[in-house]
Parts: sequence; C-alpha cells; structure tokens
Amino acid sequence: MDPVNFEHKLRFYRDQWRVYRDCNDTAMLRKWRKFSNERYDVYREFRENDPVHCVESPGVGRRWYVFRFAEAEAVLRDHDGFDRIGVMPPYPPGAFRRGEQAKRGHDKRRPTIRHDDHNASKFKRSCFNRLFSNAITSDFEARIENICHALIDDMVTHDDPDLATQYAMTIPFAAIAEMVGFPRSDWGFLRDTTLAFSSRLDLDITAESLLKTRKAADDMAAYVNTRISERRMRADGSSSALIWATFNNEFPDQADAMCAQALSDLILTNEFTGYAIANTLFLLLTAATTADHPSVAEAAVSPAGIEECLRFDSPSQATPRCATRNQVIGGRHIAAGELVVVVLGSANRDPHRFAKPDEWRPTADPVRNLAFGFGQHFCLGAKHARLQIQIAVKTILKRLPNIRLAATPPTKIQGLNRSGFHRLPIAF
Ligand code: HEM
Repeated sequence: MDPVNFEHKLRFYRDQWRVYRDCNDTAMLRKWRKFSNERYDVYREFRENDPVHCVESPGVGRRWYVFRFAEAEAVLRDHDGFDRIGVMPPYPPGAFRRGEQAKRGHDKRRPTIRHDDHNASKFKRSCFNRLFSNAITSDFEARIENICHALIDDMVTHDDPDLATQYAMTIPFAAIAEMVGFPRSDWGFLRDTTLAFSSRLDLDITAESLLKTRKAADDMAAYVNTRISERRMRADGSSSALIWATFNNEFPDQADAMCAQALSDLILTNEFTGYAIANTLFLLLTAATTADHPSVAEAAVSPAGIEECLRFDSPSQATPRCATRNQVIGGRHIAAGELVVVVLGSANRDPHRFAKPDEWRPTADPVRNLAFGFGQHFCLGAKHARLQIQIAVKTILKRLPNIRLAATPPTKIQGLNRSGFHRLPIAF
C-alpha cells in the first residue's frame, strides 16, 4: 500500500477521536474508555457548552461535530449545502474494482453507500428499493424467526453463551444472505468480515488494525465478485441476479463491478441491526430487576418501543457530511470543503426535542428521532431492521424465559460511530 496514503488514512481515523480528547475532563474520558455508555455524559457536555464543536487536525483540516437535534436535522435536510463528497480519506488506487463512483466521475471507492455522494447513491437507492420490496414476502417473518431459532439452538450448546456474537450480530447477516441467495455456511464469514472492516472506527486504531480492516475489505470484495459471477451464470431469479440485471440494463459494461459494490454495501450496512438487537436485549435484561419484566418486554417490542430503543442507544451514532459552501450552523462559520459529523446519538438525547431523554421509556409516545438518519439518505433498510429487531427479541424471550446477564461483564464497542456490544454473556 502507498505509505503516504496509508499514513494519511491512519491519521484521519485516529483524529476522529480528538473530539473526546478535547473534552478536557479526564474523569469523563476514563469513564468513556471504561464503558462507552458514558458517551452520553460527554454528549450532554457538548450540547450544553459547545454544540457545534470544531476539531482541527494537522494535515486533515477542520471538522465539526454537531450535537443538538435542531442543527443535526438542519444539516441532514440541506442536501445542497452538505453532500458526502470528500467525507472519507482516499483509498489507494486499485484497492477495489471501479464501479458506480468511477462511472460518475469519482475515481475513489468509498467504504459503503453511506459514503457515496448524493448523485452516486441515487441509482443504488432505486435498485435497493426494488430489492427490498421484492424481498419482503409473506414468508419473510417466518424466515427470520427460523434463523433466530437456529441460532438459539446453537447458542445454548456453548459453554459461554454470548448474545452479541452468537445471536444478535449473526441475525442480520443471515437475513441478508437469505435475501440475496448466499449459503448458510457463509453467515459467519459475512458477520466477521464486516466487523473486522468496521473496526477501523474503533477508538484506538493502530497501523496493524488498519491493515486488518483493509484485508477485510479485500476479502469482502473478492467474496461478492465470486458470488456474482456464479449467480449471473445461473440467472436463477434470486435477488442478487435481480440486482445484477438492473445494473446490466443501465450500465452493461460495468454490471459486474457495480453489482459487487452494491452487494457489499448491502452486507456492510447490516451490523447496525445486530447492535440494535443486542442493545434492546441489554436494556430489557437490566430493566428486569427494577420493573415488571413481561410488560416491559411487551412494550419494548411494540413499534413505539423499538423506536425508543433506537433513540435511547442509537446503533449508528454519527454520520458524515461535507459542506459544499460557506455557511453558519449553530452560530459557527463552516467553510466549504470542511467535514461535518452529525452526532445522531447525541441529537437523540437532546432535551429540547425529547422529554426525559436520558430515561429509557418504552411505553412513552414516540417522537421522531434520527436513528435511521433523515432526508434524502434516510436508511433504506429501516423497515427490515425494525422487523428483525422485533422478531429477534420476541423469539429469544419466548425460547429462554429465564434469560439473564451472566456474571462475566459485557464489553461494549469503543468508538464514536457505533454503539453496540462486542460480547454480551448470558445465562438462562
Ligand atoms: C438498526 C439498524 C440500522 C440503523 C440504525 C441504520 C442507520 C442508518 C442511517 C443513520 C443511515 C443514514 C446515513 C446518512 O444519512 O448518511 C442509513 C442509511 C442506509 N442504510 Fe441503514 N441502518 C440500519 C439497518 C440497515 C439495514 C439492515 C440495511 C440493509 C440491509 C441498511 C441499509 C442502508 C442503506 C443502503 C443506506 C444508505 C442510504 C443512502 O445513502 O442514500 N440499513 N442507515
């Protein structure tokens, strides 16, 4: 890999966390490192004292962190003023086969569709919408439930059952594999490779771990390329064949590469559903000591309860934009070209928007939150994700009525962008 590119990228990721180092409160920082649930204390401090916070890193430039709901929503709403061009560090040339971004004049591959600029993501969105409407069939719920049962059957045989890896994090990868026609034997690969890839967002990224994330990206690209050629050859009417056909209609000379990118986009965005399932179960299992478990559980899996879990501990905590012109947000002057990180997890705890935002209230009337984003890039998988969370939580509570946290403490992911569990040991 080009050493200059590599250094630049490492610095970019490392400096993401300057927002925490700038916090100036070492006790708070220690807490954050110990258990990243404390992130909400850090957010509160920023919302109250410096809601549009500037971080300047040498060689990377200024970036802004937006902590309040009103400004967060304003940034996401303003598609002209805030695009996604330039939100990520460049990839070394040749790391990926060029696809849609290249077609549209951008020669750098972005990690997922969530980093594509507005134009590049439009076409993919229309393909994915077709895919999702095709995939939510009448037996979809039953298929997810079967996946949950299969995973529980397996989990209960483990000496150290772990709700995060063995259940919550596997469900969405199994669901997407089913949807696009990938075999069951690949569920673990899809999950582990995605998690390895997203570890680039961890708090203390090192050169070694960055190399591992690059390998994960290459492995995923190789995997989908192989699958695509198999499915295309078979033209078997599966969803991946459908995606390929859609790309082939529009861009016949690039269908393979674009389809491979689209599929890896679809796979890599699934981790958030896994975090949401584990976060919801953790809230339920810790609430069980203070509240009436069955009624809390019932509320938590209602549509309003699921929204409340997503609001209270949002799996996707932040999303980037790049200012396209000079403008003022929350009284701060942001220059064209500067990076703006919308901290969704903080906006979702803003007391100007939500009553008692730091309490988890699954029975409260829902107020729209930003867990799935807002505006033009609102999450395409939201409907799927909600359904999966609901079925996953209901199924495990039914199968393991005595489920509780094990004596071994859970471990949370340490990073700004995501809130979820690495491990969530349980007993039953
Ligand atoms: C609880 C689970 C999930 C959460 C919290 C979540 C969150 C989000 C958020 C916040 C965005 C907006 C990004 C932005 O504004 O830049 C987004 C976009 C997206 N999500 Fe999700 N997501 C979840 C599950 C899924 C699933 C299961 C899929 C697909 C299988 C998916 C596919 C997408 C795609 C394709 C986009 C990009 C839309 C675009 O850029 O126009 N998501 N998601």
